[in-house]
Amino acid sequence: MSNAATPAPQGAKSVLVRIEDGIAWVSLNRPEKRNAINPAIVREMNEALDALEMDDACRVVVITGSGEAFSAGQDLKEYFREPDAGHPILRERLYKGNAAWQWRRMMHFPKPTIAMVNGWCFGGAFQVLLACDLAVADEDATFGLSEINWGIIPAGIVTKSVAMALMQRTALYYIMTGEPFDGRRAAEIGLVNFAVPKDQLEARVRKLANTLMQKNPHVLRACKTGYHYVREMSWDASAEYLAAKSDQTKFRDPEQGDQKGMRQFLDEKSYRPGLGAYDRSR
Ligand code: ACO
Repeated sequence: MSNAATPAPQGAKSVLVRIEDGIAWVSLNRPEKRNAINPAIVREMNEALDALEMDDACRVVVITGSGEAFSAGQDLKEYFREPDAGHPILRERLYKGNAAWQWRRMMHFPKPTIAMVNGWCFGGAFQVLLACDLAVADEDATFGLSEINWGIIPAGIVTKSVAMALMQRTALYYIMTGEPFDGRRAAEIGLVNFAVPKDQLEARVRKLANTLMQKNPHVLRACKTGYHYVREMSWDASAEYLAAKSDQTKFRDPEQGDQKGMRQFLDEKSYRPGLGAYDRSR
C-alpha cells in the first residue's frame, strides 16, 4: 500500500496531517494550549478535510491531539472573548466555519472517521468526538462537559450531540454537574467504542481502521449517510428512503459488491458473509 503525505496548507501548524498505509492521522496541534480550538484550528481543519476527501491515499481519518490532550474544547480567549469583543459578522463567520469542520462535514465525511481520545476532552471537543463515526479512548483520558463550571450552556451543537448519543439520565447528569469522568466510564456509557491502556491506543485504532479498510468504501459511505438521515425520519419515510438509498448504492457501486458477494457465497462457496467481507479483488 502506498504511503503519501497531504501537503499542509502554507504556514499551517495548528493541525498536522500524516498519511500512512491508508490512515490519515490528523492531530490538533496546540499542545501548549491543550489543543484548545482557536480560529487557526478552524481554518486549518477545514483545509485538511478539503484535501483529505480528495486524496486517494487517505481511506480512513483518525482525529487526535498532540501531547497530553485530545482537545480542551473551544479556546476561551481566541474563540470566545476576542470574537465577542469584535465585529459580529466576523464572530458569526468563525462560528459557521467551526460548525463546518466540527460536525457538518465530519458527520457526512465520505470516508470513515475515528476519534482517538488520547487525553483531556472537554466542551466543544465533544462535538468532534461525536461527529466521528467511531471512537477509541485512553482509559485514563479525562472527559467533561465543563461548560456549567464557567457559566455557559453546552452550545454549538454539543447538547444535541450528547442528547443523541447518551441516555437522558446520563446526559443530564454530566451536563448539569460538569463532573469529569475517565475513558472507562466513557466506554461504559457508549460515548466511545472502547477504552484501552494508553500504550495500546494507537494499535487498537490502527486495527479498527484496517477492519474498515477491508470493506467496500462506497457502501460504507452510504451506510453512514443512511444512518444519520433515518435518525430524524419517521419509520415510513425511513423505509422509503432506505429502499431508494439501497438501489442508488447498488447502481453506483463501482465494484458491484453485491454481485461479487453473492457469487462468492452462493456459487463459489468461498466465504461466509456473516464472518467477514467478500474478496474485493475479484
Ligand atoms: N481555552 C483557552 N486556553 C486553554 C484552554 C481553553 N479551553 N484549555 C487550556 N488552555 C491553556 C491554559 O490557559 C494554559 O495557557 P498558559 O500556559 O498560557 O497559561 C495552557 O492551556 C495549559 O493549561 P493548564 O490549565 O495549565 O494545563 P493543565 O494540564 O494543568 O490542565 C485542563 C488541563 C484540565 C484541560 C485545563 O487547562 C482546563 O480545565 N481547560 C479548560 C477545559 C474546558 O473547560 N474546556 C471547555 C471550554 S468551553 C467549550 O468548549 C464550549
